[in-house]
Amino acid sequence: MANRIEFHQHGGPEVLRWAPFDIEQPKETEIIVRHHAIGLNYIDTYVRSGLYPVNQFPSGLGTEAAGEVVAVGSQVTRFQVGDRIVYCQSGLGAYSDYHHVDQSKAVILPDSISYQSAAASFLKGLTVYYLFHMTHKVQSGETVLFHAAAGGVGLIACQWAKALGANLIGCVGSENKAQRAREAGAWATINNSQDDIVKRVHELTSGQKVPVVYDSVGKATWQTSLDCLQPRGLLVSFGNASGPVTGVDLAILNQKGSLFVTRPSLNGYITTPELLDQASATLFSLISDGKIEVSVPESQQFSLRDAAEAHRSLESRTTSGACLLIP
Ligand SMILES: NC(=O)c1ccc[n+]([C@@H]2O[C@H](COP(=O)([O-])OP(=O)(O)OC[C@H]3O[C@@H](n4cnc5c(N)ncnc54)[C@H](OP(=O)(O)O)[C@@H]3O)[C@@H](O)[C@H]2O)c1
Repeated sequence: MANRIEFHQHGGPEVLRWAPFDIEQPKETEIIVRHHAIGLNYIDTYVRSGLYPVNQFPSGLGTEAAGEVVAVGSQVTRFQVGDRIVYCQSGLGAYSDYHHVDQSKAVILPDSISYQSAAASFLKGLTVYYLFHMTHKVQSGETVLFHAAAGGVGLIACQWAKALGANLIGCVGSENKAQRAREAGAWATINNSQDDIVKRVHELTSGQKVPVVYDSVGKATWQTSLDCLQPRGLLVSFGNASGPVTGVDLAILNQKGSLFVTRPSLNGYITTPELLDQASATLFSLISDGKIEVSVPESQQFSLRDAAEAHRSLESRTTSGACLLIP
């Protein structure tokens, strides 16, 4: 018998419940992972709220964790019992002591990377990998605009951009967060609670504006992001923290300079074990070389049982960097 967080209807953090469950035998290509640290991601709040509805109730939650393999299915070739691993993109249910995961979603964790660091950086780091290396190849010397730059994905993006030699302008909601983003490697920051983003981007780029905007805030920043782009620039709209972008009139892309827009997701980019291995190797080498550091303050490490409190913190915009659930 193990415990997990589940929910029986969509809603606020209060729908999350602590519940016992039976651990079943792994299917042919599955591993069972005993969790040491579980990644908290903003997407988990979309699943809980119903913005991304689930197929059936009760439902588990969460798709990312690090831990040790305690059982393997008959066709598993990538792992054996005792391996230290990290996974993401699993079926819902990572908010638990143990989870069944298809072997194609996991990788071996280098000894130099702790379970905590892995769970704090895997989904978020793979996201930055595809955003910077696949959606748009960020070049050395290029200036890019990145919203929520002091968030979980954001602080990794600041460090990754610096490692690539790019100038990341980070938009953040407070002066504290601006400082965190600059310490992580942002070239400049814009405090959106005080400053006009478009005006500041204009000033920082001597009127050139930027070739690409990475926007995970969504509804609240859609127009602003378009206004920060150079002619034929690319808006990468990859999240909905303020609500989804809807009802777009395509003519706006023409009016604002023949712009491009894409709405990508990790599941649309990291689609095979080979791609997962390649992206993970790049992420792990940046961590091992000290170019990306992921430390999670005590105040952002929540007991698994307190997942509702963790969701409240994340949605209140008071967290900076990653948050973890600890079983
Ligand atoms: N498409 C993909 O493949 C993919 C993968 C991973 C994550 N994402 C997206 O990336 C974003 C970041 O994820 P994360 O887990 O690292 O979360 P996070 O950035 O740590 O937290 C979200 C941040 O968004 C900002 N924000 C702006 N307006 C907000 C609003 N109205 N309500 C709440 N927050 C608001 C806040 O930062 P400030 O206070 O500084 O504004 C907040 O801290 C999320 O939107 C997530 O959905 C997308």
